[in-house]
Amino acid sequence: MSFDKTSFKDAVINRRSIYQLNKNSPIDDKRIEEIFRVAIKNVPSSFNSQSARIVVLLKEDHDAFWDIVGDILKNIVPEDKWESTNGRIQGFRKAYGTALFYEDPEPIKKLQSTYAQYSDYFPQWSEHTSAMHQYFSWTALEAEGFGCNLQHYNPLPDQKAAAKWNIPLDWSLKSQLVFGGLDDGARDNLKERSEQPIEDRLFIHGAK
Ligand SMILES: Cc1cc2nc3c(=O)[nH]c(=O)nc-3n(C[C@H](O)[C@H](O)[C@H](O)COP(=O)(O)O)c2cc1C
Repeated sequence: MSFDKTSFKDAVINRRSIYQLNKNSPIDDKRIEEIFRVAIKNVPSSFNSQSARIVVLLKEDHDAFWDIVGDILKNIVPEDKWESTNGRIQGFRKAYGTALFYEDPEPIKKLQSTYAQYSDYFPQWSEHTSAMHQYFSWTALEAEGFGCNLQHYNPLPDQKAAAKWNIPLDWSLKSQLVFGGLDDGARDNLKERSEQPIEDRLFIHGAK
């Protein structure tokens, strides 16, 4: 699969958190499916656990997910905070799709018993595995012309989402990647990303 519209490096550089999204998809649903197939097939996992699970919700299913989150939040958010919370949720709902990133605990448990000496490490490697899938998907969607943002409303929607989309309850929801077409000016309105000096964060030894 080629990401024709942007080189990998440009996609990495261009990727931002974009919140002004709409239901205009720059690519067809088959291509979206292809991106997530590439993610599931090719993104690495610790000890090749293949523990990542991705549930992609498009259009009405995407809307239904954010309705679930909104309904739950309405019951727990103080009344004076509801307007801004609801505005945020409605903003996500305006997008085209949401990818739910889960980790299946079963392969992790198996690895813990097979490689007992690493048992304590497998849960954090499972988080790393999920993060790799999230980052690949975010960047690949960006390369196709989508805007994306990453959310963490778990565990609020876990039970209702599991019931609606037939998702095993023991899968652990890690994040929600919202993606959609870009509203006019969505990129222009982005704040310059604040950056700590690269010299304080990157160290190279031995370069000629
Ligand atoms: C692990 C992780 C968790 C994040 N969680 C959230 C989140 O819950 N909500 C949100 O709006 N953005 C979230 N973000 C987005 C970051 O705030 C954002 O990537 C960072 O400020 C840099 O901005 P940029 O994405 O525009 O480059 C998360 C990013 C990462 C890598």
